[in-house]
Amino acid sequence: MKNTEKKVVMISGANRGIGKVVAEKLSEEGYLLSLGIRNPGSLTGSLSSIPETQLLCHAYDAKIPQSAKSWIDGTIEHFGRIDVLINNAGILHSIGLEDDSEELLDEMWEVNAKAPLRLTRLAFPYLRKSGSGRIIDIISMSGKRVKGNWVGYSMSKYAALAASHTARLQGWEDGIRVTAVCPGYVQSEMTAIHAPNVKQEIMSRPQDIARIVSTLLLLPNESHVPEVLMNCVIEPV
Ligand SMILES: NC(=O)c1ccc[n+]([C@@H]2O[C@H](COP(=O)([O-])OP(=O)(O)OC[C@H]3O[C@@H](n4cnc5c(N)ncnc54)[C@H](OP(=O)(O)O)[C@@H]3O)[C@@H](O)[C@H]2O)c1
Repeated sequence: MKNTEKKVVMISGANRGIGKVVAEKLSEEGYLLSLGIRNPGSLTGSLSSIPETQLLCHAYDAKIPQSAKSWIDGTIEHFGRIDVLINNAGILHSIGLEDDSEELLDEMWEVNAKAPLRLTRLAFPYLRKSGSGRIIDIISMSGKRVKGNWVGYSMSKYAALAASHTARLQGWEDGIRVTAVCPGYVQSEMTAIHAPNVKQEIMSRPQDIARIVSTLLLLPNESHVPEVLMNCVIEPV
């Protein structure tokens, strides 16, 4: 397949964790990748040896609005199109209801809620042009239900889910399909730091998310999946 026929996928936060594994899988499957990461020099493993014709590693900081535009513009300059946006970058501060931490709340609001919306808005015109544009928002089960005391994280993920569904409605007529992927615990640094009492072995694996993302991207416009809920423990639905 020529590069001009391959789909261009943007992934935020692809230098480690879930985003990195998703990027590796999609690269193996022949997609062209535009990775938005805070420190482009920090790319390691198989991604670091992919040629420039197939991979753009662009600076992107979710806390800097201008960097979203610069990454989108850089992707268009490099590949000439955008077919898929995967909003993955996210942070967790495990502050609870009675903690007084406006700054940490604001940071989660900025990175988890506002930044993906900003990227979605900027990518929309290009996804429209694609005719079968896709957005995959890596939200969380924390955006679907509350069962602990991570109030700020949960608030930011509920907000991100609202943005995801808004994009789903607004993009429909132009062939844009939006899916919110909502995992429970997944093996990563995030859970190793913030959920030390839950064993990593019992958690879902980033590879499982990558498989889901890969399958979602194969579905035609007529088979849309608005949400995927994934659990490593039983929960009421
Ligand atoms: N792990 C879980 O159990 C779980 C469950 C449900 C949903 N999620 C969601 O899945 C996504 C990925 O999580 P993960 O588990 O892979 O976490 P992770 O291992 O902590 O990785 C987070 C990623 O987000 C990036 N990031 C953080 N702040 C950023 C910023 N200001 N600008 C750009 N990139 C930034 C990080 O880049 P740096 O290396 O530069 O920090 C890193 O690439 C997040 O949205 C998270 O909320 C995770």
